[in-house]
Amino acid sequence: MATARGALALLLSALLFCPGPSAGNSGLPTAVNITWSSINFKTILQWQPMPTNYFYTVEISGINSNWEKECIHTKETECDVTDKMENVKDTYTAHITSETLSVTENFEEPSYAISPKFTPYNQTTIGRPWIQTYGLNDTKLTVVVEDQLTPYRFPNKTFKSIRDIFKSDLQYTLYYWKDQSTGKKEATTKSNQFEINVDRGKNYCFYVQATLLSRTENRRSQKSNEKCTSHQLDVLDEYGTEVFIIIGAAAIAIFLIIIVLSVTIYKCKKTKVAKGKETMPLNVV
Ligand SMILES: *[C@@H]1O[C@H](CO)[C@@H](O)[C@H](O)[C@H]1NC(C)=O
Ligand SMILES: *[C@@H]1O[C@H](CO)[C@@H](O)[C@H](O)[C@H]1NC(C)=O
Ligand SMILES: *[C@@H]1O[C@H](CO)[C@@H](O)[C@H](O)[C@H]1NC(C)=O
Ligand SMILES: *[C@@H]1O[C@H](CO)[C@@H](O)[C@H](O)[C@H]1NC(C)=O
Repeated sequence: MATARGALALLLSALLFCPGPSAGNSGLPTAVNITWSSINFKTILQWQPMPTNYFYTVEISGINSNWEKECIHTKETECDVTDKMENVKDTYTAHITSETLSVTENFEEPSYAISPKFTPYNQTTIGRPWIQTYGLNDTKLTVVVEDQLTPYRFPNKTFKSIRDIFKSDLQYTLYYWKDQSTGKKEATTKSNQFEINVDRGKNYCFYVQATLLSRTENRRSQKSNEKCTSHQLDVLDEYGTEVFIIIGAAAIAIFLIIIVLSVTIYKCKKTKVAKGKETMPLNVV
């Protein structure tokens, strides 16, 4: 009973006397609207408002790691915390402290705001995939997707790609269709290359989208750029569009000349006929 009362007293005093997260008494505004913005594991913490006569310092920690400082005494309202989140499956929390540099206020408990939690592996957005190369050989369409890089490196200093991190959780889907038709087909791969069988002599259009199979939210990337093969239109690729514009202009010019000529010829004939008519009554008489 006594211990229970003791515990209760302790709890009460803790509630009453420990400064709350955003209830520091330095009187400085604390950060609000804190958001994480993360693409391919490059992660930036953002907040408001712009500081006036004070600074911000970000402290970040995973579930079982120590608090580490980043962007010390910054006047910005964002902080690149990528370097502190390399353990991508950990769940991180950040504290954004508002503080002045004046010595007299140092004894006061600085006020800080707490960010939402963030787990890079589950929450970073996959960048828009990019079709690196493609080729049509007889009845095979080959499409190679660029392996996007993350800011993290292997011990040998080469950058890790998103495939190196997500492994078989990362899947690409190829959406393809015969040029001029609307029936879309799809194929998936867990590498960065597709090889699909297609009809001989036809052109195909396609784009790619990445999916993270382990996720329930934020699973899909944006769609890649769209590409089309060009069997019969090789000339266009070789000579560029200028040639086609010139040819088009020439065709229009020839067309106009033909019209002008035929109108002139028609008018001449008409005049002749009219002249003939003028002379007709004379003939009749
Ligand atoms: C926080 O976001 C809300 C809604 O977007 C906005 O109205 C408000 O002004 C923001 N707060 C600050 C301090 O900028
Ligand atoms: C991340 O996603 C995996 C798979 O969906 C899930 O098991 C795990 O609990 C998630 N982690 C967090 C911190 O949400
Ligand atoms: C198409 O590529 C396959 C291998 O991917 C090769 O065996 C075949 O000879 C190629 N066909 C042509 C017409 O180049
Ligand atoms: C660096 O290490 C990774 C993983 O061990 C390996 O896949 C990659 O090929 C290496 N790069 C170089 C340039 O050695």
